[in-house]
Amino acid sequence: MEEAGRERDRTVAVVVEDTSAATKDAAAVSTKPAKRYPLALWVAILGLIMLVGVYIFSLSLKQNGMLFGLMQANMIEKEREKPCHDPRIPDAEIPYVHYPTPNTYDREECVCTGVRFFAILSMQRSGSGWVETLLNSHPNISSNGEIFSVKERRSNITAITKTLDKLYNLDWYSSAAKNECTAAVGLKWMLNQGLMKNHQEMVRYFNRRGVSAIFLLRRNLLQRYVSILANAHDSAMKQLNGTHKAHVHSKDEAEILAQYKPTIDRKMLITELKRSDKLASDALVNFKNTRHIVLYYEDVVRNRTKLMDVLDFLRMPKRKLSSRHVKIHTKQLCDHIDNWADVNNALMGTRFESFLNGSSRRRS
Ligand SMILES: *[C@@H]1O[C@H](CO)[C@@H](O)[C@H](O)[C@H]1NC(C)=O
Ligand SMILES: *[C@@H]1O[C@H](CO)[C@@H](O)[C@H](O)[C@H]1NC(C)=O
Ligand SMILES: *[C@@H]1O[C@H](CO)[C@@H](O)[C@H](O)[C@H]1NC(C)=O
Ligand SMILES: *[C@@H]1O[C@H](CO)[C@@H](O)[C@H](O)[C@H]1NC(C)=O
Ligand SMILES: *[C@@H]1O[C@H](CO)[C@@H](O)[C@H](O)[C@H]1NC(C)=O
Repeated sequence: MEEAGRERDRTVAVVVEDTSAATKDAAAVSTKPAKRYPLALWVAILGLIMLVGVYIFSLSLKQNGMLFGLMQANMIEKEREKPCHDPRIPDAEIPYVHYPTPNTYDREECVCTGVRFFAILSMQRSGSGWVETLLNSHPNISSNGEIFSVKERRSNITAITKTLDKLYNLDWYSSAAKNECTAAVGLKWMLNQGLMKNHQEMVRYFNRRGVSAIFLLRRNLLQRYVSILANAHDSAMKQLNGTHKAHVHSKDEAEILAQYKPTIDRKMLITELKRSDKLASDALVNFKNTRHIVLYYEDVVRNRTKLMDVLDFLRMPKRKLSSRHVKIHTKQLCDHIDNWADVNNALMGTRFESFLNGSSRRRS
């Protein structure tokens, strides 16, 4: 008890001593308050200013970093575009109007004719050859064909980008290349020609370069399959005087090619329908954030005026379009398939059942 009491006394003494020291200290400090306090404040303010400065700097650095790729890619084009700026073009359209300066020739009086970039995204035997010739009959449109059917051009992203850059710079030569006044330039690109394999990069390219996508798909995938098989058959048999033709320009030729009636393997048929159905729907999902239009072959066959929607989409003046292509398979599907009963049984009750009723005769 005593010890404890003594201990407490000691503590008190210490506390008292400490307090006196503190007051002494405080007194010492208070002798020059006007100098020390503002100094601390200034240091704090300075520190704050530096922090804010560093923050703003890092922000701008980050932003520049993000923009850098875009800036670099667009800088040259932007600089070239400036003198041609047309105030009638709405702001939202500006990314889609270009003023290319080809390396191989001079656009002369058309240097300031705005050019739209497009790509017809399609699948084999879906009418893209026909639609492309129709578009090419327009005096301002150049669609340069299936450029990526050549493997080396799609062997990697670098090769694809280089090919597209050349095309959109109006340096690509094909029979479809128009004069220096071309106002819409593009190509026909099959989904399985490196497009879907590199879809992320391609969506980025389309958005960066302002490329508009024209989807051309076929609703009836059974008719498409018949066309694939018949085309493969002709490729081997060369029925037209020893030459293979994927597209024909006369009724006689069409009739000869349509005489072949494929026998379709049930299992292969279901696999193929599922595969092509998935490819088409994946493409629509993957490219949904690009500027695009979706066109169905059957609708165009029924109503050619549908193509005026494409001219609208490309902001091209409306014109009557023409093509020499003649449709090959024009009868009811049952007349174009050898084992119709089998095919009928195979598809009955599946989600592909409606393909069985497809007729391709409707044509305006
Ligand atoms: C279309 O081409 C014609 C002939 O080359 C040209 O006179 C006209 O200005 C072009 N139209 C557009 C919209 O570029
Ligand atoms: C890309 O493909 C082209 C053409 O096939 C080839 O010359 C080039 O070396 C390839 N580049 C890369 C990075 O693989
Ligand atoms: C094949 O050649 C003959 C003679 O040259 C010609 O009369 C005929 O029209 C040709 N047929 C086709 C399908 O091209
Ligand atoms: C044909 O297509 C055009 C353009 O989409 C449309 O305006 C028109 O109504 C269609 N005509 C018929 C008969 O469906
Ligand atoms: C196909 O057409 C026939 C009549 O032409 C109809 O009875 C049948 O329900 C149709 N089937 C489908 C799947 O549309």
